Amino acid sequence: MIAGDRDVAHLDIISDESTYGRSCRDPRCHVETSAGGASSGSRYLLPVPELIAPTVRFHAEWLATHVEWGPGAHEDGFGLSPSDDVASPIGFTAWVRRLLDQSDPAKASAMGRVPCNYWWIVEDTQVLGGIALRHGLNETVEQLGHIGFGIRPSARRRGLATWALGRVLDEARALDLDRVLLVCEENNAASAKTIQRLSGILEPVRETEQGPARRYWITL
Ligand SMILES: CC(C)(COP(=O)(O)OP(=O)(O)OC[C@H]1O[C@@H](n2cnc3c(N)ncnc32)[C@H](O)[C@@H]1OP(=O)(O)O)[C@@H](O)C(=O)NCCC(=O)NCCS
Repeated sequence: MIAGDRDVAHLDIISDESTYGRSCRDPRCHVETSAGGASSGSRYLLPVPELIAPTVRFHAEWLATHVEWGPGAHEDGFGLSPSDDVASPIGFTAWVRRLLDQSDPAKASAMGRVPCNYWWIVEDTQVLGGIALRHGLNETVEQLGHIGFGIRPSARRRGLATWALGRVLDEARALDLDRVLLVCEENNAASAKTIQRLSGILEPVRETEQGPARRYWITL
């Protein structure tokens, strides 16, 4: 589910490979056997991730994630610039406002950018990652791709990026995009595998100022 600025709830759901597109690899997931015994199957209680629009309500939670990434780390998918003052409430509010404004084509154009939607990947009140969808194709999108994403270190390798990318591809379809470009460093195995899992087709590796880059297209 893609949510707006609202409360995030835990739900008990039957794991049928649908929540993360496959079995949950999160060690916090656990199995309960129903009262009817083996014939009635097992119930998996999964923490349910959501994509939410950036919100000032999550300032403290977002800062905890920011600290975990560590100083100087590029937090892919968050639209964060080194000059953003995210520590102070005023600075954080301004940054969130800018992210939200970028989804408005008129405001994005006034900023000299293509429109871009940002979502935070949250579970309960924890911010676990960010993902961005740029619409259109300009020089920046040619370099960075339509979609960028990042997961905080402690939440990696449990299917979150794959899940979030799948949801954002649905958003791209809803915008009538025919295909999307995703770019990652040649040696970024985690990113490459995530994109390949969503049927990304690799172009020849391209040399960039940041080093060799893999460029994948996903047809929608
Ligand atoms: C790339 C990143 C978003 C992946 O997030 P994640 O939630 O750990 O990814 P998933 O759990 O959905 O795993 C996706 C695939 O990558 C593989 N993978 C994840 N981490 C990996 C690693 N460190 N090395 C090799 N493969 C890895 C998984 O096994 C899975 O492949 P599979 O489906 O074939 O088993 C995360 O590592 C990250 O935030 N990295 C830093 C930022 C970044 O590189 N962003 C992408 C920029 S384009």
